[in-house]
Amino acid sequence: MKKKVLILGSGGREHALAWSFANDDNVSNVYCAPGNGGTAEIAENIAINLANLQEILRLAQEKKIDLTVVGPENPLASGIVDLFRNEGQRIFGPDKYGAQLESSKLFARNLMAEKNISQPSFYSCNTREEVEALKEILELPLVLKADGLAAGKGVMVCETNDEFEQALKTIFDDGEFGKAANRISLERCLVGEELSVFAVCDGENFKILNTAQDHKRAYDDDKGPNTGGMGAYSPTPLSTPELIEMVGDEIIQPTLEGMKDRGHPYTGFLYVGLMIVDGDPFVIEFNVRLGDPETQVVLPLLKSSLFKLLWDATEGNLKKSKVVVSSETAVTVVLAADGYPGKYKKGMIIKGLDSVRDRLVFHAGTLQKDHDIITNGGRILNAVGFGKDLQSAIEDAYKIVDLIDFSGKYYRKDIGKRGMQYLKKGDIND
Ligand code: AMP
Ligand code: GLY
Repeated sequence: MKKKVLILGSGGREHALAWSFANDDNVSNVYCAPGNGGTAEIAENIAINLANLQEILRLAQEKKIDLTVVGPENPLASGIVDLFRNEGQRIFGPDKYGAQLESSKLFARNLMAEKNISQPSFYSCNTREEVEALKEILELPLVLKADGLAAGKGVMVCETNDEFEQALKTIFDDGEFGKAANRISLERCLVGEELSVFAVCDGENFKILNTAQDHKRAYDDDKGPNTGGMGAYSPTPLSTPELIEMVGDEIIQPTLEGMKDRGHPYTGFLYVGLMIVDGDPFVIEFNVRLGDPETQVVLPLLKSSLFKLLWDATEGNLKKSKVVVSSETAVTVVLAADGYPGKYKKGMIIKGLDSVRDRLVFHAGTLQKDHDIITNGGRILNAVGFGKDLQSAIEDAYKIVDLIDFSGKYYRKDIGKRGMQYLKKGDIND
């Protein structure tokens, strides 16, 4: 019997999930709550407040959903999986306890320390005085992290005294992160190349989907403020089969063992953010969900059924599952509204979407209004290009970008450039 799937969330990541399920022979219906202008075309959008877990449960029961897949971290950190499981409603994701791998940086750091997983040295601090005293001993550069969820803004890399003072002000004087900064993880700053590994876990076993590299800064050459992500490519040239095996054996497997030891076997996506230093991977962070925009390049390269993989994971049956990945490279360029991640306008009509009907364009901040698709957020669309190598995938993605237009269209022109430099010189630090 074909299954009904409900996806929670409204970004490009959720459109990519919906696309994957809509093209899956195992799936009869795809619902997206709340979804966006793109998911409206391939799934049924249902307006809902993701903070209201009871309402989501009611919706899943009413629609007789067979599998619910959670996009963003907040419902997981609030315990949506615990609620669904208590009601016998199948959902893919970690319970509230397991979601602490993302919702508490120090929970994750302590678990990694217990399991001897490579990570930067870290210190748990409760007060400004502790942070200042440690700085005198450790010296800059250091990284200050609010322990709790801070909408992706709680990490401050401090290379200079000014940056360190500014971080202290943000945390302790302005109280910008509220309770999320009741504890601080003070960490050694690692210097190297970043890449992320995406895995599906069933409590005991895991399967790696692929690797990807995000582009977090707003402007070209990694300048400007941090954003949710302005583009990504998959796989990354840094990810050799040896490295992937090392990440599986020395990071993911011991993490699953640590969660099992604690009485909460970890089921869900695991996003492992790594810094590669002299060829060795160190964990910068865990996330308990897929990345956005990384999902928009990871899922199109997956040739086997995502639905089946997630279903098997909820059955604790991943060991026998197969993951087949294309040998191509995918690149996504985010089309954003001018001003993002600061102030920007909404409601602009998007033109040119019809001319790219045969191409993959995932929507993020869009809304269907009458016969138009209009902008409704900071990150608006994700153009996805493919190629036999990174260079041709970059060219392919920018061809799509050129065919789409709206007032205030902004995008980075250098997505994939660091990867190309690495390929050319064997070194990205030019
Ligand atoms: P996050 O918001 O947790 O994704 O972290 C933002 C960025 O901060 C990461 O992508 C890294 O570039 C950087 N970062 C976090 N922790 C460290 C660390 N210990 N050493 C160096 N860079 C770090
Ligand atoms: N693109 C970074 C994230 O999803 O956290």
